[in-house]
Amino acid sequence: MQIAQPHSFVPDPGNGRALRDAFGLFATGVTIVTTCGPDGCAAITANSFASVSMEPPLVLWSPARSSSRYGLFAGAEHYAIHVLAADQQDLAWRVAKDGAALKGVDLGCNANGVPVLERCLARFDCRRHAVHAAGDHAIVVGEVLHAAMQQGDPLAFFGGRVARVDIN
Ligand SMILES: Cc1cc2nc3c(=O)[nH]c(=O)nc-3n(C[C@H](O)[C@H](O)[C@H](O)COP(=O)(O)O)c2cc1C
Repeated sequence: MQIAQPHSFVPDPGNGRALRDAFGLFATGVTIVTTCGPDGCAAITANSFASVSMEPPLVLWSPARSSSRYGLFAGAEHYAIHVLAADQQDLAWRVAKDGAALKGVDLGCNANGVPVLERCLARFDCRRHAVHAAGDHAIVVGEVLHAAMQQGDPLAFFGGRVARVDIN
């Protein structure tokens, strides 16, 4: 992302764009969260994932209240978080646009009946631990019941862009 001039500001409703841009300078990975919806597999792309605790094993992510998928994901008892690999950029955008985008994709099913992607860098099968209100988002904390991982390069999100990272 190009920043013409270094600048600082006090966040207010008038400069939301600048705040969003500043938040976007924190490079993250990209995840897809899946759960069981009324019509089968529901998914959402999320970069707000973070690991939280080792004992017990906890992770978090933040769904936006404005999302049409908020109720389903904030209320889910079981869900899976997939850390995407470098070549899963298309999938990330497709799921961002459409919560039902995984319906045509080859999916597995975890021990709790959650549809899961067979391929990703890491997967965390979670049970709802807590949901905290946080402004226009919620903080969804999950207990990791099962984890899986494999070798590969990650997908990154920075400045509003998704890009592959060649790290291995
Ligand atoms: C890279 C990337 C990261 C995203 N991260 C989040 C996130 O952490 N939380 C969230 O609620 N939406 C996030 N979104 C947006 C959602 O994937 C989705 O587009 C949004 O909820 C709009 O859904 P709706 O059209 O069903 O309302 C992200 C989108 C992209 C492309």
